[in-house]
Amino acid sequence: MVLTRSKSSLTQQSSADRVDITVFGGTGFTGKFIVQELFERQKKGQLPKSFTWAVAGRSHERLDEIVQTMAKKYPKTSLPDIIVADVSKRDTIDDMAKRSRVIINAVGPFRFLGEYVVRACVENFCDYVDITGEPEFIERMQRTYHDQAVKAGVTIVPACGFDSVPTDMGVLWTKSLFAEKNYTPSQIEMFFKLNVGPSGVRGNYATYESAVHGVGSQDLLKEIRKGSNLAELPKPTGKKLEFHKGYHWDDQLQSYHVPFMFADPSVVRLSQKLFLTGYAVTPSASNKEMPPTVQFAGYTLLPSFMIVVLYYLVGFVFFTLSSAPWGRNLLLKYPEFFSYGVFSRTGPSDQQLKDTSFEILLRGKGYSSKFPASGAEPDVDINTKVYGPEPGYVATPKIVVQSAIAMLDGKKERIVPVGVLTPSVAFWQTPLIDRLQDVGVKFEQV
Ligand SMILES: NC(=O)c1ccc[n+]([C@@H]2O[C@H](COP(=O)([O-])OP(=O)(O)OC[C@H]3O[C@@H](n4cnc5c(N)ncnc54)[C@H](OP(=O)(O)O)[C@@H]3O)[C@@H](O)[C@H]2O)c1
Repeated sequence: MVLTRSKSSLTQQSSADRVDITVFGGTGFTGKFIVQELFERQKKGQLPKSFTWAVAGRSHERLDEIVQTMAKKYPKTSLPDIIVADVSKRDTIDDMAKRSRVIINAVGPFRFLGEYVVRACVENFCDYVDITGEPEFIERMQRTYHDQAVKAGVTIVPACGFDSVPTDMGVLWTKSLFAEKNYTPSQIEMFFKLNVGPSGVRGNYATYESAVHGVGSQDLLKEIRKGSNLAELPKPTGKKLEFHKGYHWDDQLQSYHVPFMFADPSVVRLSQKLFLTGYAVTPSASNKEMPPTVQFAGYTLLPSFMIVVLYYLVGFVFFTLSSAPWGRNLLLKYPEFFSYGVFSRTGPSDQQLKDTSFEILLRGKGYSSKFPASGAEPDVDINTKVYGPEPGYVATPKIVVQSAIAMLDGKKERIVPVGVLTPSVAFWQTPLIDRLQDVGVKFEQV
């Protein structure tokens, strides 16, 4: 491991020798935006003067180049240390963890590369957030490292990017609005909408690669769930929420929708189980009342029937090929062809990032009484919306940086629980939602 701009030794560091935040994967497409976001927050005076940080990755030279470019753009900001660390070299990952209070991990696919970093953090008393959207990785880390993390007093929070903070925190917030009125929430439907400008939408290759392997890991995810020691979600007492497995027309939203294929439903489900199991209790004496469990369903809104047909055609080919190794190789070789141009090795252009935005609508239904009769129709609605800029590379850096700061401050104030947790369970007592509002990821009642 090579260190620069640091006076500390590489032996076991005391807490005072650690930098506040390390961005691991600083040379990656998303990692660079995360580094830029930390410069931006300093420029805006939103980080304390004493803030210390590092960027980490495989190449000292490329990291230094990024830091120097940013330093010109953001004069009078504190420059990060540079830490050379490679997932395949255990001592370098351990040393990075020993040098950091919180690591932001942007090195993926997480299914292959994430566990080494989680292990290093748990063993070296470093808190952790990442930008994965891979349910199998998230649930495997929770199952494998939770007890060890609790013993070490460490908090590990995967899925702190667009996957799945807006939905997971949005569900938590919607439940709190029911509680404010003394209502009982019973179901929340989530509808994701991507607003795309004339320049079109594009994602970087690594996200596509994670999705290809994600489909291939469905069986493993089922096995992990079978072995789970978490509390089961209770059967709903009120009306059962109908889940639309195929495409469906929604009169209220005047739009077609299909089931949401990414991590949010699995993260919300895990959050509710973690709350029920009692993993959300913080070291502070003043814990709020735990949020109740609701039925949840997630959908993607599609603008026309033509797009529904295209979605199923592309989806059919993608799912069929990604379930066999030869098919996965084919998909990975021709990302643009098989994703209908949505993913490429060059990633999105600046214009595409500027023109794109997201909306997550949360349609909450519940009861004005505390104890609804079995099968009763809900009699109150609370609808909310979480919205913001382009999700993958504009919103994600903002969200993960705010999550890391919520972790730093929250651990000092003893309002963040320990263990391997989801965003809403880790940050339910922190002002993460207010922080996100300040950086343009908005939560609104509609
Ligand atoms: N949640 C979300 O909304 C969201 C948004 C964006 C991205 N992501 C996820 O974030 C991950 C990264 O995406 P990306 O587009 O930024 O990918 P990328 O441009 O390919 O960057 C990958 C990063 O990982 C590093 N890396 C690879 N192997 C490594 C190793 N053995 N040791 C240390 N570092 C290693 C690379 O370092 P080198 O530069 O040295 O190769 C690079 O910094 C993906 O899993 C993606 O799905 C999630």
